[in-house]
Amino acid sequence: MTAQKFFSAVFLDLNKLNTYNKYVMRMRRKKHLEDRMLSADAFLIAGQNDGFYALTEADRYAILDFSEIFGNNNPLWLELGAGKGAFAFELAARNPDKNVVAVEKISNVIIEALERADREKPTNCRFMNCSVENLKYYIADGVVERIFLNFSCPYPKKSYRNRRLTNERFLDLYKKLLVKNGEIHFKTDNREFFEYSLQTLSENGFILKNISLDMTSENFPENIETEYEKMFRAQGKKIYRVEALLK
Ligand SMILES: C[S@@+](CC[C@H](N)C(=O)[O-])C[C@H]1O[C@@H](n2cnc3c(N)ncnc32)[C@H](O)[C@@H]1O
Repeated sequence: MTAQKFFSAVFLDLNKLNTYNKYVMRMRRKKHLEDRMLSADAFLIAGQNDGFYALTEADRYAILDFSEIFGNNNPLWLELGAGKGAFAFELAARNPDKNVVAVEKISNVIIEALERADREKPTNCRFMNCSVENLKYYIADGVVERIFLNFSCPYPKKSYRNRRLTNERFLDLYKKLLVKNGEIHFKTDNREFFEYSLQTLSENGFILKNISLDMTSENFPENIETEYEKMFRAQGKKIYRVEALLK
């Protein structure tokens, strides 16, 4: 990875931020991000620079070979909008027979995950620093068994709804990436976003199951708390959750 590559990825994403994301961006830009990214890229399997957008559509494709990356053919689980990766690390640790890939577009955030991976060296967990929009260039159709969407940015403004990770344009992508009977597991603290997502999922060929309108008051031992979830629980917020099955 070149220094240019990671620096430009940061600036690229800054241009696309909405108000919810400003929470993330209020964090001071990490010192020496460029150097840190360069020395912690052992577990990074895709990073994206602005040169990417100068490529022709055909040249953007760099489909990853997960059996080579992980050294096995275990099922692939993706977490989209993974933040600092706490969920992905725990998911991988609890499921050694799955390959976990965490996707996060902000370099300033994913650096925490990359440095942790460098220390802990998880065998079944890797990271991609790119936008979900571009996954089709890296992941072949029909290879993902499960997708996790945890506290995705709700983009409450109607004019930004096509950025929501449960918008139809993303569901079209997930339908391509998922295996038959593949699943999306979605949780959020935002009721409007949850209702919107129940509607888009059900209108786009997913069967909804295990819907919870207040996960906090339920016994759900397999739950893995994310960084945002900890914060929302501390504020006494309800957590909404659904599993969506692709038939
Ligand atoms: C609210 S945070 C939640 C982080 C983590 N999932 C958690 O629950 O703690 C949402 C994250 O999704 C990332 N994100 C939003 N849209 C994205 C996209 N289109 N592609 C990749 N990452 C995205 C943001 O950068 C942010 O880090």
